Amino acid sequence: MSDPLAAWRSEFPIVETCTYLVSHSLGAMPRRTNVYLQQFADEWSTRGVRAWHEGWWEIGRTTGVLLAPLVGAPAGTISMHQNVTVAQAIVASCHRYDGPRRRIVMSDLEFPSNMYLFEGFRRYGAEIVYVPSDDGIRTNLERLLEEIDERTVLVPLSLVLFKSGFIENARAIVEKAHRVGARLILDIYQAAGTVPLSLESLAVDFAVGGSVKWLCGGPGAGYLYVRPDLAPEVQPALAGWAAHARPFQFETGPIDYADAPERFQSGTPNVPALYSCRAGYEIVQEIGVDAIRAKSLRLTRRLMDLASEAGLRINTPQADDERGGSVIIDVPDGASVTDELIRRGVIVDYRPRAGIRMAPHFYNTIEEIDHAMRELCDLARNPVSRPPNPGSRLHGMYDY
Ligand SMILES: Cc1ncc(COP(=O)(O)O)c(C=O)c1O
Repeated sequence: MSDPLAAWRSEFPIVETCTYLVSHSLGAMPRRTNVYLQQFADEWSTRGVRAWHEGWWEIGRTTGVLLAPLVGAPAGTISMHQNVTVAQAIVASCHRYDGPRRRIVMSDLEFPSNMYLFEGFRRYGAEIVYVPSDDGIRTNLERLLEEIDERTVLVPLSLVLFKSGFIENARAIVEKAHRVGARLILDIYQAAGTVPLSLESLAVDFAVGGSVKWLCGGPGAGYLYVRPDLAPEVQPALAGWAAHARPFQFETGPIDYADAPERFQSGTPNVPALYSCRAGYEIVQEIGVDAIRAKSLRLTRRLMDLASEAGLRINTPQADDERGGSVIIDVPDGASVTDELIRRGVIVDYRPRAGIRMAPHFYNTIEEIDHAMRELCDLARNPVSRPPNPGSRLHGMYDY
């Protein structure tokens, strides 16, 4: 079958050097990113402080506008932040935890930093409710819906789980949260750029994510979406001068909030990071997330078929509508197998209590899937025993 996305491969130099199947962790860098990073350096060196008034000060807003269509959000609803943790903290700081509505309800399969952050809010009175998964792959939807009640203030929810690639039923969870007056924060990091989504139609209150995975951007370009009708009502305690309606007046005392998205901006924007994510956003937009998804489903299906044929355990849902862009395969001694795969040029990662995560993107080929699975099956059948090499524990470095 011919691949309509084949031509994009040449835009990503790393795919010529290895079998790059780790886009759930760090997507491949587009060639075009060099141009944007050079542009940043040129502006800094030739324009100096004047660059702030020639695009740098507004770069959070303009980057959010570029990202908005990729996640189904209206322009002007996205602010940019260092990472998901900071974006979640800004949302958390918009709420109170000292009244009867003080519960934060989430699946125990959530990304750990979502837990660490909200655990910290216990000191302000928050109660955290973790809903245990039955199989380690899917959230227990029924239990989660039951736990969301009038005592719930926030529901942090990953649209695609980082551990299993499972796609949550976000619509049902948003509906329940809204019925009881709770707000939902959708973490779209593992979805944006590979699973089509519309924040607007899901009617989520907040969404957070970052750029380094399926969006092929650089680190430091996290983002926060706030529902446009909700934005004027919420007041982030975690605010800085860039969130003030008149930042350059340097007014003292309490903040007079700007309108969104600046309202949610803390301080000085992360300018080089926002240059580093631009090419990835443009390319994902040029290809279209629907086309990326169609290819992703073909490649992940092939991966799973080969794993099943080899009798390997797959910790990812089989159904297309339940599966994001990654496939997680559990083999004995997965961490060492991952090290050896990386040594052989097959770049994947390993997650404890989940397995080896493999993530094809639009620049990968079916031949690469076949090659990676041949190597994995070979290692699963004939384990290589090597002394651990702490200096090259790449699976540990990719361990997120
Ligand atoms: C679902 C999800 N949320 C959050 C993160 C990371 O958050 P942060 O941007 O704070 O590093 C990851 C992975 O890195 C993730 O997979």
